[in-house]
Amino acid sequence: MAISTGSKVIKTAVFISGTGSNLKSLIKFSKLKKSPISINLIISNNPKSKGLEYANIFKIKKKVFTFKNITDEKKILFELKKNKINLICLAGFMKILSKEFIKRFQGKIINIHPSLLPKYKGLDTHNRAINNNDKYSGCTVHYVTPKLDSGKIILQKKVKIFKNDNAKSLQKRILKQEHKIYPKALKMILN
Ligand code: GRF
Repeated sequence: MAISTGSKVIKTAVFISGTGSNLKSLIKFSKLKKSPISINLIISNNPKSKGLEYANIFKIKKKVFTFKNITDEKKILFELKKNKINLICLAGFMKILSKEFIKRFQGKIINIHPSLLPKYKGLDTHNRAINNNDKYSGCTVHYVTPKLDSGKIILQKKVKIFKNDNAKSLQKRILKQEHKIYPKALKMILN
């Protein structure tokens, strides 16, 4: 996939909607010596997203687009160009991007999903895994294509489901692994 910009650090935008714990782990990763990425832009569709606080703490440029306006994607593309962004990491971003948008950034949009894809695409993954009596769930880092949660898988981590698990306890355990595999997956594809 054509993400590399030679030996230069790759300018990255992270898209969020909520808590932003994956954003935080990516920021930490970007600060490591020899990290392949720098995070230059944070985009949220939710003005109340807690994750936006990290933009202030780490002095990263942030922009909110609520997607109520049909020109918002165009405005985002403008921002991405203006900031010379070459990689987009979706991290709990709850809006589905248009086919046109994804095509413009083909091969350069990555997502983290809280299930072992191809199982449980979409929402409510933890309840679905528990209700199916699965022994394992987990998380997946994958390329984004126009088909929801169906792009090429980069990295997965299995997490055991215990008998007394509920969606919340499982989510918590999986989230911990998400924070590890997202940076690891980026390292794999960018080095
Ligand atoms: C994560 O579980 C991620 O896999 C999913 O949404 C959640 C976002 O959590 N897409 P956070 O905002 O990164 O804490």
